[in-house]
Amino acid sequence: MARLESFDKLVSLSKRRGFIFQSSEIYGGINACYDYGPLGVELKRNVKQMWWNAMTRQHDNIVGLDAAILMHPKVWEASGHVGGFTDPLVDCKKCKTRFREDTLPEANMKSKECPECGGELTESRQFNLMFKTQMGAVEDTASTIYLRPETAQGIFVNFPNVVDTSRQQIPFGIAQIGKAFRNEITPGNFIFRTREFEQMEMQFFVNPEEADEWFETWKERRMAFYDTIGIDRENLRFHEHGPDELAHYARAAFDVEYKFPIGWSELEGIHNRADFDLKQHEEFSGKNMGYRDPQTNKVYTPFIIETSAGCDRTTLAAMCEAYEEETLEDGSVRTVMHFHPRLAPIKVAILPLVKKGGLKELATEIKDQLKSHFNVFYDEKGAIGRRYRRMDEAGTPYCVTIDFDTLDDKAVTVRDRDSMDQIRVPIAELQAWLAERILIS
Ligand code: GAP
Repeated sequence: MARLESFDKLVSLSKRRGFIFQSSEIYGGINACYDYGPLGVELKRNVKQMWWNAMTRQHDNIVGLDAAILMHPKVWEASGHVGGFTDPLVDCKKCKTRFREDTLPEANMKSKECPECGGELTESRQFNLMFKTQMGAVEDTASTIYLRPETAQGIFVNFPNVVDTSRQQIPFGIAQIGKAFRNEITPGNFIFRTREFEQMEMQFFVNPEEADEWFETWKERRMAFYDTIGIDRENLRFHEHGPDELAHYARAAFDVEYKFPIGWSELEGIHNRADFDLKQHEEFSGKNMGYRDPQTNKVYTPFIIETSAGCDRTTLAAMCEAYEEETLEDGSVRTVMHFHPRLAPIKVAILPLVKKGGLKELATEIKDQLKSHFNVFYDEKGAIGRRYRRMDEAGTPYCVTIDFDTLDDKAVTVRDRDSMDQIRVPIAELQAWLAERILIS
């Protein structure tokens, strides 16, 4: 299967079918912000659901959290974001374009010339990526707060609350899915790097002596997750951070990378954060962030193994992985999204061959039977071939066609998205037949 060569085709399919739209499109859009349409919201929701199941339901020792986006400003001093969450920025004095200094060609840095218009570049300055806003009605520095640039800090500051209330003992984890905001200087590549995005983070609190072992365990578990959402292992790899790449908080870091059309790029970061975060919050808040081992009664600061995945990037990877333009025997080309059935936004399409002769009524009855089990889509308009093609582009694994034979034999034709094979399935067995393939496979 030929791989997708650029994001362009995905961008147009997304707009054509309703996966992803530019934010505020009728006003000309707003840079690096996107809206998920009717299909996109289902797809992304399924990504989150599968992550949540894999990270919480499958483990007795991982609990969930949903912390506020707005946090006390001191959180971001303690975390190091106020002082250090910066990129070096240069401006072109002529065309006003902004560049991240570390992404500019060396020749331009030497000549101080802008690569686009030849204008003069300013000296570089550190640009903080956090979005600032005001809390309350009075605008002074005391009321400045930030939109969180990562969900992780909401977990760290709640560590004592969870220990006190959840009966968890180390080792245990806290998982969270939520929005994060970064005023990226060079966003782009569709939803790969945006200014508003969602993270799926899990912080695992361990005894420092066991940290290296848990780090390896989580590396393997996280890699295995991508298989369950249908991403081929061949398109995934680990990238280890060298000493120059390590974030200020990390002792060891591996990225899970996916082979996107733009090349190997980060999907998720797995970090050994040691005791950096809990110690920082202890210092800045004055509150004890230690943990008392119930067996030994010894108090210590746990180490944290972090798994931090991008929800939008995982969704994008799933879309890249699914996309195919297949040339059929008659020379025509069908575009099909081969989503894993559990990720597919619509699971089953119900298509009466025609509206007349009682087929519409029967199709509606079948739809009503199935809709409490699956996300079902009903379409009665247009040629059946065109309806199939539309469902191929939406990535719907099964199309159920109701024809005149159905009235006699009480069976329907089920078309498989990938093979395009068609078989007859009795209506009485349809729900179980679909469930076996969609929910279990
Ligand atoms: N708490 C650690 C942390 O936030 P990170 O490597 O900065 O680590 C984790 O971010 C993940 O969040 C990345 O692997 C990526 O998937 C996603 N992510 C980060 N910045 C993003 C952006 N501007 N747009 C979309 N996703 C982003």
